[in-house]
Amino acid sequence: MLEKAYKDGKIKAIGISNFEGKYIAELETKWEIAPQFIQVEAHPYFPQDELRKTLDKYGIRLMAWYPLGHGDKSLIEEPIFKTLGEKYGKSAPQIILRWHTQMGFVVIPGNKNVDHIKDNLDILDFKLTDDEMAEIAKLNKGIRYYNGTEEQLAGYAAWQPEYEKA
Ligand SMILES: NC(=O)c1ccc[n+]([C@@H]2O[C@H](COP(=O)([O-])OP(=O)(O)OC[C@H]3O[C@@H](n4cnc5c(N)ncnc54)[C@H](OP(=O)(O)O)[C@@H]3O)[C@@H](O)[C@H]2O)c1
Repeated sequence: MLEKAYKDGKIKAIGISNFEGKYIAELETKWEIAPQFIQVEAHPYFPQDELRKTLDKYGIRLMAWYPLGHGDKSLIEEPIFKTLGEKYGKSAPQIILRWHTQMGFVVIPGNKNVDHIKDNLDILDFKLTDDEMAEIAKLNKGIRYYNGTEEQLAGYAAWQPEYEKA
């Protein structure tokens, strides 16, 4: 249905969410038009190295949810972010969000605080060096903050909006 809407010019991009691993492998065998985006959990503790191999093959952009580890202090207070924050005059969350953009990710931090929203937009006037990106890469712990079950994903896959049933 999304592919038809795309071909008919009704939508400009196809985005999918959360169907990683064996699910994206299965989709890969079926899609005619590869999606332009996939929204998945990603942050320095879980930079989605495995999924990115498939995404790179098709030019699919990763959109990161929980980009700040859902606000986890142990991630935000990693010493490397403090050090880089002092160097660039930025907060640790700003350094993490800049890392996301340099990874090529579209990033959607969640905010209830207006000052944080302004800070999170103010990340375009500095650039992390390759060595700094490599240092941050060492934080990969393979840790997700959200672990959905197979049953949940199967439920999402089987779900049909009312208009599709008609
Ligand atoms: N597609 C999916 O299945 C899926 C699943 C989960 C989440 N999401 C989406 O992902 C987005 C982000 O998720 P999230 O909000 O849970 O996690 P997050 O963006 O990783 O973390 C948000 C936390 O970080 C804090 N924060 C943000 N900017 C900050 C700053 N500059 N300084 C200090 N603290 C800062 C926020 O506090 P303040 O509120 O005080 O700024 C909040 O406590 C949401 O839009 C959510 O809907 C999608």
